[in-house]
Amino acid sequence: MMTIVAHRGYSGCYPENTMLSFQKAVEAKTDEIELDVQLTKDHQVVVIHDERVDRTTDGVGNVRDYTLKEIQKLDASKAGNGQFSSQRIPSFEEYCEWASGQPVVTNIELKTGIVYYPDIEQKTIDILEKYQLVGKVMFSSFNHLSLVNAKQICPEIPVGALVGKNGIVNAGFYCKKFGFEFYHPSYEALDDEKVKEIHDHGILMNVWTVNGMCELEKLQRWGVRGVITNFPTVCRAYVRGLGL
Ligand code: G3P
Ligand code: CA
Repeated sequence: MMTIVAHRGYSGCYPENTMLSFQKAVEAKTDEIELDVQLTKDHQVVVIHDERVDRTTDGVGNVRDYTLKEIQKLDASKAGNGQFSSQRIPSFEEYCEWASGQPVVTNIELKTGIVYYPDIEQKTIDILEKYQLVGKVMFSSFNHLSLVNAKQICPEIPVGALVGKNGIVNAGFYCKKFGFEFYHPSYEALDDEKVKEIHDHGILMNVWTVNGMCELEKLQRWGVRGVITNFPTVCRAYVRGLGL
């Protein structure tokens, strides 16, 4: 059965990367939640996608220039177009405390492709260990060195190499060589030949961002492991409709 991964929580209908979007994703019976982590000025792990707070909150500036206390004063409901009550940027610790009691796996994207946050891998893993979540998570990143770092610290956490629409050549070979369990391509990065090469190397694929029926149909035929979607309810209904 295809795994449903709620991208930034249930971000198609709720403010992304907020506790509200995560709670709604669980209510939608998602299998997994994808979220993004970065570090504040005081080296705390927080859940936010952009390196700046401008798009998703009522604040301005870089995540790395705010302390945790300061960043949590911002309202992260901006992406909801005024439909929702004020939301806080969650600390990763707050998320983990909640997730430890939920029936979901978390796909933690280490946002180190633009700003490299030293020790973000260790800090994130420390929190996962505190909440006994090591067996219920995976890492992903566009910065594959972050995945290598995470693997060195905690080999039992599976990792997935994120790539954009251009993909990478010999992706299956590449992931196998580096010990990455998963390949996380943009949907546009795949075709029949590439999918075969990835399957041939025993690498599982979680594909983003899948919000349409055309993509769902094709990914089902290709036998991908998971779809990373902004609309987990629709994807859940599709998988159920197939009688899987
Ligand atoms: O996990 C897939 C996806 O999250 C990667 O892109 O920009 O939404 O973090 P982005
Ligand atoms: Ca992400």
